[in-house]
Amino acid sequence: MKTVLITGASRGLGLALVQTFYELEYKVYAVVRAANAYDMLTKMYPNVSVLIADVTHESYKEQLSQFISNTEINVVINNAGSAGTSGIDTRRSTGDQLIYEFETHCVGALSTVNAVLSNEHILPPSVIVNISSRRGSLNMQATGAAMGIKCSFSYRIAKAAQNMLSLCMADDLESMGIKVISVHPGALLTKMAPADATLTPEQSASRLVKILEDSNVKSRDFICLETGKLPW
Ligand SMILES: NC(=O)c1ccc[n+]([C@@H]2O[C@H](COP(=O)([O-])OP(=O)(O)OC[C@H]3O[C@@H](n4cnc5c(N)ncnc54)[C@H](OP(=O)(O)O)[C@@H]3O)[C@@H](O)[C@H]2O)c1
Repeated sequence: MKTVLITGASRGLGLALVQTFYELEYKVYAVVRAANAYDMLTKMYPNVSVLIADVTHESYKEQLSQFISNTEINVVINNAGSAGTSGIDTRRSTGDQLIYEFETHCVGALSTVNAVLSNEHILPPSVIVNISSRRGSLNMQATGAAMGIKCSFSYRIAKAAQNMLSLCMADDLESMGIKVISVHPGALLTKMAPADATLTPEQSASRLVKILEDSNVKSRDFICLETGKLPW
């Protein structure tokens, strides 16, 4: 039985990914922040193992490491994320906002991977998926494609940092046979929905799972689940 670890599984894309992998009979390990999300998931999907943890907490890596100890995880999906605050221009952006989003999208993702790799006696995962965003694309920002969008600086900066993390890990983990990709899941009809959202989280989840199941994933790809590929 294949295994998958998904963070941010309480709602939106994370929850849809849990359901999609569950239906494909994967053993699912899910990370949520709140007790009510734990109750909901364990009721809906009795075979899903759920950890209550905040990916920004200093004990997160240790908590996760214990949760999955002696377990082989085939696919890791760093999905937990938040959109940032009203800091959508220079004056309204603060260091605290930047640090918070960086800790969620970048440090949290790194902690997840380090926890999975912490047991040297377990085979490493085959794919690490960092759920990124078109808003993290430096190329799109530099060419004016993101000009005037109402998206916080902290979110854009954190996703750009997460993209660099993906590429650093792709280089570093290649010799272990681990592929690392970044994925823009589309403009989704979730709590975080941007103004142009049209894709349901279920549609996005099933597109991602199809790509992973087809095994045609190439490390260092920045995939867009709406249009194909994105420029870094
Ligand atoms: N929606 C879009 O159009 C869109 C576009 C591009 C990229 N994305 C990315 O897709 C991913 C999923 O987004 P979504 O649209 O499904 O958003 P969502 O419905 O707001 O879900 C976000 C999930 O992340 C969890 N989370 C946030 N901060 C966390 C933390 N510190 N520790 C643990 N869990 C945390 C939330 O848990 P709680 O329930 O506890 O808050 C929730 O489960 C995110 O990484 C987002 O940046 C979304």
